[in-house]
Amino acid sequence: MCGIVGYKGKKNGCEVVLKGLKDLEYRGYDSWGIAALNGDIRIVKDVGKISEISLDNLGLEHSELAIGHTRWATHGGVNKINAHPHFAQGETFALVQNGIVENFQELRGELKAKGHQFTTETDTEVIVKLIEEEQKSNNDLKAATISAFNKLKGRNAIVLIDKETQRIIAIKDGSPLMLGIGENEYILASDISPLLSHTKQVIFLDDKEAVVVNDTYQIFDIVSGEEKEKKVQTIDWDVEQAKKGEYPHFMLKEILEQKHTIKQALVQDPELIQNIAKEINNAFGVYAVGCGTAGKVCLAGTYAFSQIAGKHVNFAFGSEFPNFHHFITSKSLLMAVSQSGETADTLEAIETVKDKHGKVISLVNVMGSSVMRQSEYSLLLNNGPEIAVASTKATTSQLALMILLAYASAGRYDEGMKHLNEVSDKVGEMLGENYLSSLKELAEQIKGSSDIYIIGRGINYAMALEAAIKIQEVSYIHAEGFAGGELKHGPIALISQGMPCIALVANDETKADMLSNAMEIKSRGGYIIGVSPENNEIFDYWIKVPDVGIASPIVNIVPIQLLAYYLSVARGIDPDKPRNLAKSVTVK
Ligand code: F6R
Repeated sequence: MCGIVGYKGKKNGCEVVLKGLKDLEYRGYDSWGIAALNGDIRIVKDVGKISEISLDNLGLEHSELAIGHTRWATHGGVNKINAHPHFAQGETFALVQNGIVENFQELRGELKAKGHQFTTETDTEVIVKLIEEEQKSNNDLKAATISAFNKLKGRNAIVLIDKETQRIIAIKDGSPLMLGIGENEYILASDISPLLSHTKQVIFLDDKEAVVVNDTYQIFDIVSGEEKEKKVQTIDWDVEQAKKGEYPHFMLKEILEQKHTIKQALVQDPELIQNIAKEINNAFGVYAVGCGTAGKVCLAGTYAFSQIAGKHVNFAFGSEFPNFHHFITSKSLLMAVSQSGETADTLEAIETVKDKHGKVISLVNVMGSSVMRQSEYSLLLNNGPEIAVASTKATTSQLALMILLAYASAGRYDEGMKHLNEVSDKVGEMLGENYLSSLKELAEQIKGSSDIYIIGRGINYAMALEAAIKIQEVSYIHAEGFAGGELKHGPIALISQGMPCIALVANDETKADMLSNAMEIKSRGGYIIGVSPENNEIFDYWIKVPDVGIASPIVNIVPIQLLAYYLSVARGIDPDKPRNLAKSVTVK
């Protein structure tokens, strides 16, 4: 959560940082702030969205050294005082942070006892005061910052500008930070998007590394204090991919990009897929782990592996997985699924496996992300940036790769590739104008509902859960997904007259039971929206999807993504930035 940008170069740093923060706004959008050096450091900050701020009304002069922050509040309410950057005493430096200082209460207590006074409720101010405290015994700001940072617990990244030496000092441990290297300019950012319009050359900082940016840059290990050489990598995303273009929202753009993104995800080195399949087959205990939507993909994966490869794959959400550490051994294999590759809970799951010397393979979209760097093998989704908070194109690509791995594990790689490429073509055919219009109409029809239920069985149980979060997060309608068979064990009591219930009825062995479950709801007054290759008299409304066998989750979730999008728009919500959420969840 939270987005950080820093700039040192010849351009107007305020402009670069402002634009960069807009690119990072999906990481948090409750408040923002920019600090710029011009002899003195000046800070401008406010509550609200950075997207509404222009360079003119920012009111900062041209500056070649600036940092900025877009906030997703963790410690301290959403107000101007708590917004970053935070000044040191005497305004000698200004600092922004992404993460949570887990021992902030303890540190705050100690600092108060030493006479420090706090004006905000944030954990960030604790870092500032800790650095000031360290400066008492070490006048060098870089050394004091490293020393203070080493006292923090939790996943954090900080960036500060120093008035005296006119440099940026940045450190990361657990939260993402990268350094873009342009021509006589350097840009620090929480992810790639702010870099794209300036440079494609990037250094992905590893945990416990600090970078000092002046006329050049130096990277240090914060434990040993030694300077390090780091590889400069070339990013293969381009700036156009990160633009909304003619679309009203990124969410719609990204849903429609699924015409080709599934195919892009399938462009993998066959040898790499076979090697991963071998690891899966040789492991003793395979765990598919992700959070939110990526978690639902993992759950779907367990069914795909069961059906295609006759293999038991375990599933847990990233935040729950560490509770199973008792079972993890050096023979365990974790399949980590993550769009951003920076989700703290997924990273913690990876650490759990690494602690026991197990192996990690990952499906990620963001090149160079922490999840990717901590994996023995990684499959990149090749989807370009996913900017809307709700995951759409990454979901179907993850599903396709998960199913492909199941085929490869069963020794049926070629068959899997052929099948999934056909599925991708069918998704392309689905996404025509008429399809979009019919889902828009359905959204208009049900936009006033207070509840929507979704049921599925087998692999589509996972999609019922995914459909629910898609609808919840962008429309704010209470939506819940259930296993079709579970309904009668409790939730059926909640069905009321006219309540929309979406039934994901794939043409597989679950079909007859699913239709019975839909009938049970209909008998109690529910309005049945069937998502299925064939119509049925039980359905009050039919959403047609192609019949694609085990890949049915891919085609079933696409119309629900569209429905969620149109519900959001019909209810006057910005689907790209729903309340309380952030795209990249880098806190626990
Ligand atoms: C929902 C959504 C989230 C993410 C989750 C994990 O639409 O986007 O539930 O799926 O926060 O994020 P990644 O995939 O980046 O690890």
